[in-house]
Amino acid sequence: MSETAQLKIGDKTYDLPVIEGTEGEKAIDISKLRDQSGYVTLDIGYKNTGATKSAITFLDGEVGILKYRGYSIEQLAENSSFIEVAYLLIYGNLPTAEQLQAFEFEISHHTLVHEDMKKFFDGFPSGSHPMGQLSSLIGALAAFNPASLKPGLTAEEVNLEIIKLIAKMSTIVSWIYKKSLGHPVIYPRNKLDYVTNFMYMTFGQRTEDTEIDPVVVSAMNKLLILHADHEQNCSTSTVRIVGSSDANLYASISAGISALWGPLHGGANQAVVEMLQQIKEDGGDTDKWIAKAKDKNDPFRLMGFGHRVYKNFDPRAKIIKKACDDILEKLGINDETLEIAKKLEEVALNDPYFVERKLYPNVDFYSGIIYTALGFPTDMFTVLFALGRLPGWIAQWKEMKANKEPIGRPRQVYVGETNREYTDIKKR
Ligand code: SDX
Repeated sequence: MSETAQLKIGDKTYDLPVIEGTEGEKAIDISKLRDQSGYVTLDIGYKNTGATKSAITFLDGEVGILKYRGYSIEQLAENSSFIEVAYLLIYGNLPTAEQLQAFEFEISHHTLVHEDMKKFFDGFPSGSHPMGQLSSLIGALAAFNPASLKPGLTAEEVNLEIIKLIAKMSTIVSWIYKKSLGHPVIYPRNKLDYVTNFMYMTFGQRTEDTEIDPVVVSAMNKLLILHADHEQNCSTSTVRIVGSSDANLYASISAGISALWGPLHGGANQAVVEMLQQIKEDGGDTDKWIAKAKDKNDPFRLMGFGHRVYKNFDPRAKIIKKACDDILEKLGINDETLEIAKKLEEVALNDPYFVERKLYPNVDFYSGIIYTALGFPTDMFTVLFALGRLPGWIAQWKEMKANKEPIGRPRQVYVGETNREYTDIKKR
């Protein structure tokens, strides 16, 4: 007998079905509530509201568990590659060797970007933020792939757009960086694997013999895997709701990039490093800045701390923190901001303000330190987050369409003026 919830309103009682997920999560299905009772629910910020049933990513914020398609993030970060994880998220299973080779071959043969896309770069003012550029350029891909706008695309046609997008995003991200330096862009080399090719286009010289340090490639793979999906976060929910209007894949992902830009979301990795630099220039007094973060009258927040879902350690932060130590040691870099970050973490984790509110380091707290060690400037960090999150966005968009979910259209409670008569402007 399946469980039901009962809602009593006045002298009426409504039975609401309860559904249970494969990991034991439970939800009250209110999809018929308004028809039955005339009531809607209100949950600003959707803190208690499930938007869908998904088989892609599971996270348990209380315990600090994160799994993609049932595989733990720890195992994938340790053993897999970013492109293999992308396959897992999008198609649901780890690929065989043949499947992975075919996937990588397909992608490597779509990495070129239409030469006319370069004209967009000439239009951006120098120093314009890479996230604004990325959102525009990914949206513009629809113009260069008119077939993607055809209604009723077949599964094969959708898959081709997915392959193109994964391939071209890495080229576009590297070109954004090169253009920011005023350097000529570097074209992809199809015999390189996805991440090596990306690092080659970003940091390589124009000569064919540029070697990319395997230590750097390994760290980049791990970072991209850790960012690949995170269930119904702000930007993923944006991708799903834009896609639910039957907007094309490029428009949906472009919207997700814009949502990720916000400093409360993906933009936090840039804000963390700027915060650490600020504390370093201010003399490194972490107690002073912790006090500011706790002060309700001070707008300063400890960026990279806290999470809507994780009320325990973000498992990704643990992995990145260790990777930080490893990569800095291997590259022989002594980064003072890492020491400041560790001190902030130590102080915060023993401070009642943070403990009571269950505020722990999240994925963004340490990632910027590694990106800096790998040679990226601060304003490229969130673009790298987007590159990592792309397969997750695609998988979620694909699932929403496969489930034939209706167009997303939340309700509201109106609290504005009621009836008013129009008056002539002379009489106002
Ligand atoms: C990402 O959702 C995802 O999965 C996102 C993400 C993903 O992979 O997609 O994990 C990526 O976005 C990680 C989060 C990156 N953002 C930051 O690091 C920005 C700093 N953190 C916050 O602003 C905040 O913690 C949020 C936005 C992450 C979560 O905010 P919530 O859930 O809306 O919680 P809240 O703002 O209501 O805070 C609850 C309390 C408040 O204090 P009280 O009003 O109860 O007294 O905690 C306080 C907040 O003031 N608080 C902080 C704080 N975060 C929360 N106080 C100081 N510093 C902070 N960082």
